[in-house]
Amino acid sequence: MSSHEHETYDVVGIGFGPSNLSLAIALEESRANGLEGGINSLFFERQPSFGWHRNMLLPSATMQISFLKDLATFRNPTSGFSFISYLYASGRLSQFVNNQDFFPTRQEFHQYLEWAQAQVSDRVAYGSEVTSVGLRPGADPELSDRLRLEVADAAGRVSRVVEARNVVISTGLVPSMPEGTDRDERVWHSSEFLEKYRRMNPAELRRVAVVGAGQSAAEIARFLYDELPHAQVWAVIPSYGYSVADDTPFANQIFDSGAVDDYYFGTEQTREAFWRYHRNTNYSVVDDEVIRDLYRRSYDDDVRGIKRLHFLNLTRVTDVKRAGAETRVSLQEGPGGGVRELDFDAVVCATGYTEMEPTRLLGDLDRYCLRDESGRYRVERDYRIVTEPEMRCGIYLQGGTEHTHGLTSSLLSNIAVRSGEIADSIVARRVEQNSERAARALSSPL
Ligand code: FDA
Ligand code: NAP
Repeated sequence: MSSHEHETYDVVGIGFGPSNLSLAIALEESRANGLEGGINSLFFERQPSFGWHRNMLLPSATMQISFLKDLATFRNPTSGFSFISYLYASGRLSQFVNNQDFFPTRQEFHQYLEWAQAQVSDRVAYGSEVTSVGLRPGADPELSDRLRLEVADAAGRVSRVVEARNVVISTGLVPSMPEGTDRDERVWHSSEFLEKYRRMNPAELRRVAVVGAGQSAAEIARFLYDELPHAQVWAVIPSYGYSVADDTPFANQIFDSGAVDDYYFGTEQTREAFWRYHRNTNYSVVDDEVIRDLYRRSYDDDVRGIKRLHFLNLTRVTDVKRAGAETRVSLQEGPGGGVRELDFDAVVCATGYTEMEPTRLLGDLDRYCLRDESGRYRVERDYRIVTEPEMRCGIYLQGGTEHTHGLTSSLLSNIAVRSGEIADSIVARRVEQNSERAARALSSPL
């Protein structure tokens, strides 16, 4: 290989969380295997090994979807990569069934994901962060059928350059902090919770605050209350109290794969109705069991004449300042209400995430990607960004498509079906390109 040639793949996946793991499996199982030469793929993951929200693997946290919504079953019920196959391989199938629970712990699901990734790990480069995706230097997009990706090692040095006919971006949600608040060793986002918590001496944590009223906040408040029996735990809640996540059967239909079509092909009003009526299936809501656990702890404390759990309702954090070992938090009580300040030993901002945003990664390539009137990417039904006609490579998104494909965009519910659709699209475009090439060869003069 000369210094100008690079490894070339049909598909390069950026990020190797559950979405691209599911794609690796879909490619493995798809008709790609019947295609001449097959579809070769490589996935880059910046973490040193597989990890799915490791900092939130709290002991009693459970999954928010049925175990049947695994990496493969909804696309291929006979897949060898299903959660049931994992249970069978682990010798726990009977025990799992005896347990009569659709919702495994996040720890067990993590073990399942690790088991699945081990079977495709020859296609994954860990400790590898993709820092840019672009055209080859000097390449005309109309003529070039490949994109060039730069990959940095753990030290941040560009260590590898590869080329791809298609990229599938799946870099995950982006942590969101209260405006103007920086993270440090005592101000944490929930996405870094366990890592930062373990660095502290628990005895030093006497007053801790947990900001937010979503699932992360409630789970962390429960964890801190249980782990730190000497501590006062303050929950800063923008609502009047935690609200329950609607996972009742009719509402749950919005996570069915068919709902993607209803959303994608629906009118603006249809899409707006999805959000108006069903945002409470996922955002700023908490599982019933965790809410009851917290209320029970608070009530039991009342009975014993102790006060360790404090709920500051209708309150938002507006500012966080560090003062020595303490952290001073400004709290706005109700819209237009007063602001008071409290000091804490640590503040956990379980303040949610924003959607995946690949603009920076795409750099100059972004100008070939078309946007709607609100400035959001236009995305085909097969999750490919709509590009200028001259662009011949496929840029697919797993995540960042809530505006086009609806609520499942950032969730696990539909990943088996979605990655199958992406795999099929890549194979179909490859077949089309092969036929075009063959037709050109036939029509060109000898
Ligand atoms: P995910 O974020 O998992 O993976 C993205 C990967 O890309 C990461 O491993 C990251 O390191 C890597 N990466 C980023 N940039 C990169 C780059 N430039 N180069 C290389 N690698 C890069 N949903 C659900 O349906 N049911 C559930 O039970 C839960 N539970 C849950 C718990 C918690 C604590 C959170 C925060 C979220 C959930 N979710 C969820 C929602 C969550 O988005 C979903 O479970 C998956 O993480 C989505 O998988 P992805 O692979 O898309 O992203
Ligand atoms: P989230 O649902 O978006 O909740 C963020 C919370 O922070 C909201 O209540 C928000 O209130 C609040 N908030 C934001 N800024 C604030 C401020 N300045 N002051 C006070 N409160 C503020 O985020 P999440 O709980 O991290 O959940 C994200 C996703 O992860 C969801 O899909 C969830 O289901 C998933 N998750 C799953 C598990 C599990 O599987 N066990 C565990 C954790 C998370 P407003 O809405 O009013 O802004």
